[in-house]
Amino acid sequence: NVEKQALYDEIAAELKQRNAVLVAHYYCDPEIQALAEATGGCVSDSLEMARFGRDHPATTLMVAGVKFMGETSKILSPEKTVLMPTLEATCSLDLGCPVDEFSAFCDQHPDHTVVVYANTSAAVKARADWVVTSSCAVEIIEHLDSLGEKIIWAPDQHLGRYIQKKTGADMLLWDGACIVHEEFRARGIAQMKALYPDAAVLVHPESPESVVAIADAVGSTSQLIKAAQTLPHQTMIVATDRGIFYKMQQAAPGKTLIEAPTAGEGATCRSCAHCPWMAMNGLDNILHVLKTGDQEIFVDPALAQRAKMPLDRMLNFTA
Ligand code: 13P
Ligand code: SF4
Repeated sequence: NVEKQALYDEIAAELKQRNAVLVAHYYCDPEIQALAEATGGCVSDSLEMARFGRDHPATTLMVAGVKFMGETSKILSPEKTVLMPTLEATCSLDLGCPVDEFSAFCDQHPDHTVVVYANTSAAVKARADWVVTSSCAVEIIEHLDSLGEKIIWAPDQHLGRYIQKKTGADMLLWDGACIVHEEFRARGIAQMKALYPDAAVLVHPESPESVVAIADAVGSTSQLIKAAQTLPHQTMIVATDRGIFYKMQQAAPGKTLIEAPTAGEGATCRSCAHCPWMAMNGLDNILHVLKTGDQEIFVDPALAQRAKMPLDRMLNFTA
């Protein structure tokens, strides 16, 4: 529509004027993902967002996603200006892992290697030996396990349990959870499977163990998009944030994608397969922030320097 196009054009002009690039996560609304594609930015998972922002020549990064993604970009590129549509967009995993409590836990187990998920604050990353995302977590834990290391894993308990089961590594798990993925239920998915018996079930490993157990493919956002493309099934029941459908449908154009049901479907649902924090990103606040420079991410330089080490390890490991 004409209004949307005018807004797109205005944002594109502001990006250009600021020498800025838009980096968006797959869970953002489709209109933001389309804008990122149209303006030479990127739409990807949390690992590739970090790498793209670091390597892109733009002097300003507009990171559409949640706060830890903006912080990661700033830690990797301290010389760049990192803006976000809103600094209020956080994550239940980040909130569920306060640095003081986490540090005390690490101090109690000094013989353990500390591995944290990217969905954490800069301060928690600064306490870690390794940062991982869901697309490289299994390989990195396998690697550490092969060296005989004992591991502290935080904050997502479901992802941690999945990796522990898959690798047999010795892992102490923090008890965090993602409010979107923890709502998926095996029973609801099994009922849906009865309606679509030929469908494949695709599951992000932040989901409960019982949901992972009935999956045909388990993986990070980018791995699930790949699975939708490569599995022979015509229909997919997808247990992750519905923002992923935009890219998944592009990757598998002829296929039918169905949202997996959540426990609280209806009035009581807290998240209903769409992250409330990802949903805070919009075209309006992107334009406002580009015009005003509001909502800039700052990370304490000493903390950033310490947090960069485990992030660099991850990026080098997956390069
Ligand atoms: P990935 O893109 O790393 O799979 O991240 C999932 C997620 O929940 C990010 O918020
Ligand atoms: Fe955090 Fe879950 Fe939202 Fe991702 S989807 S940002 S893990 S709350």
